[in-house]
Amino acid sequence: MHIFITGVAGFIGANAANQLLAIGHRVTGIDNLNDYYDPQLKKDRLQRLEGDNKFQFVKGNIQDPGILAGLFADGGFDAVIHMAAQAGVRYSIDNPRSYLDSNLVGTFELLEAARANPPKHMLLASTSSAYGANTEMPYQEVQKADHQMSFYAATKKATEAMAHSYAHLYALPITMFRFFTVYGPWGRPDMAPIKFARKILDGTPIDVYNHGNMRRDFTYVDDLVRALTLLLDKAPTQTPIADVADSLSPVAPFRVVNIGNNKPVELLDFISEIEMSLGKQAVQNLMEMQAGDVAATWADTALLEALTGYVPRTDIKIGVKAFVDWYQSYYG
Ligand SMILES: NC(=O)c1ccc[n+]([C@@H]2O[C@H](COP(=O)([O-])OP(=O)(O)OC[C@H]3O[C@@H](n4cnc5c(N)ncnc54)[C@H](O)[C@@H]3O)[C@@H](O)[C@H]2O)c1
Repeated sequence: MHIFITGVAGFIGANAANQLLAIGHRVTGIDNLNDYYDPQLKKDRLQRLEGDNKFQFVKGNIQDPGILAGLFADGGFDAVIHMAAQAGVRYSIDNPRSYLDSNLVGTFELLEAARANPPKHMLLASTSSAYGANTEMPYQEVQKADHQMSFYAATKKATEAMAHSYAHLYALPITMFRFFTVYGPWGRPDMAPIKFARKILDGTPIDVYNHGNMRRDFTYVDDLVRALTLLLDKAPTQTPIADVADSLSPVAPFRVVNIGNNKPVELLDFISEIEMSLGKQAVQNLMEMQAGDVAATWADTALLEALTGYVPRTDIKIGVKAFVDWYQSYYG
């Protein structure tokens, strides 16, 4: 298969490209290598991919008119994995404007390019933050999700609606993923695991929000990519899956799928695992809840399992150890 990945130098995009190349697919990827976090990390992720002659990289902004249209016209893409976005709940409090270009305009340009040259399946990243103020746990894809708590989540939820309309109008098969706090090797420096590891080693206090009273359905990146790879062949059709609450649209080849662990972990337990792997205790700075954030996330993964026969299972002991091993070898 020839697969087009946006945000291919990002944490999840690069890990996905790596695994897809390893199982024989051809990958073309785009990224603008922006400086939201250290671009050197993005270049280093790309360097791992560039040794494979089935990989091609294009540097560019997805929202620039014509770039994606040109790539789709020439590419003959069988599938698209859309990861490029301005991510981060907390950053969106102070920098909401930066979410408009990548998330809304960028996704619009992608949908337009696909309308002209349709791939067989498009897989687009959304987020567990789309569930917003919902308190019914675990989160099921068929729940109403109308009360986003941050502008990041609002833009991601908007891309779900945009994609649905294109799936309906132009018969584009689209699966939207809601990811749940992804962690692992080559992770993002703006996310808790790297911030914690760095500060624990430095001996500086780590910020622990909501006094540590937080639970996250942490998902190991390799598990997430495996689920994504299995879903490539599961383009939505008109027929709902039996015996499970299927989010399939009644009017479009469009479905929303959670990719999570179905096993929320207390933040303080996650921190303990990092401490154990590093062999050093954290100094904790207990803080109030951050604006825009939620206290808990928990994915119902029945739909993912019904579609693929697979759900993420890596225990945090193993996942955190793999993350810390990578952190120490990469950052020294
Ligand atoms: N990591 C998580 O825990 C998590 C959770 C939920 C959802 N997501 C979503 O998954 C996707 C991937 O996240 P990630 O953690 O790999 O983030 P990331 O920031 O590491 O990757 C995104 C990549 O997209 C690129 N990019 C951003 N805007 C672009 C643009 N306009 N044009 C071209 N390239 C652009 C960035 O340079 C970056 O390399 C995102 O859509 C994110 O919102 C991630």
